[in-house]
Amino acid sequence: MLPNIILIGFMGCGKSSVGRRLASLTGHRFIDTDEQVVKAEKRSISQIFATEGETYFRGVENQILEDLVGVAGIVLSTGGGVVIAPENRAILKKIGIVAWIDAEPDILFERASRSGKRPLLKTEDPRATFDTLRESRLDAYAEAADFRLDSSSLVHDAVAQHLLDEVLRHHHRFEG
Ligand code: S3P
Repeated sequence: MLPNIILIGFMGCGKSSVGRRLASLTGHRFIDTDEQVVKAEKRSISQIFATEGETYFRGVENQILEDLVGVAGIVLSTGGGVVIAPENRAILKKIGIVAWIDAEPDILFERASRSGKRPLLKTEDPRATFDTLRESRLDAYAEAADFRLDSSSLVHDAVAQHLLDEVLRHHHRFEG
């Protein structure tokens, strides 16, 4: 059976849209950690950050990952900061093949700032915050990932197809 596929990457890389396409390509169930957090907390991510702070949010996010260990047949899209905690990186590897969707910083920033729903970018200089945060996480994405895909020039459908090809190539990590 095809292993679980986990999508990591910075805000704006397209994890959720690509994840939905990958789920329909594979027949896997689509799960999004941000959606699970909202469901568990019955309030938006922005509200959680504003009232409880980031540390609290990270706790809920971590619990959702832990609950997914042992679950099969899923495509999991994750929040951009999930890789910060070393414990989470280890859990992701247990859950499935980890794909890092990356893109040029300008493209990521344009997409990430479009929704206005990212509490971490609500600063005086969102672009500077974005660059600092992204650079501080590059090593964590690299460590967590089985492979990286540059999606800068690809539409979501193409990203999903490329990811599926790569996952089939990395399948062996979950065999035997
Ligand atoms: C975050 C990214 C968000 C969400 C939260 C924190 C981050 O998810 O989990 O706002 O730390 O990068 P997306 O990557 O889907 O925007």
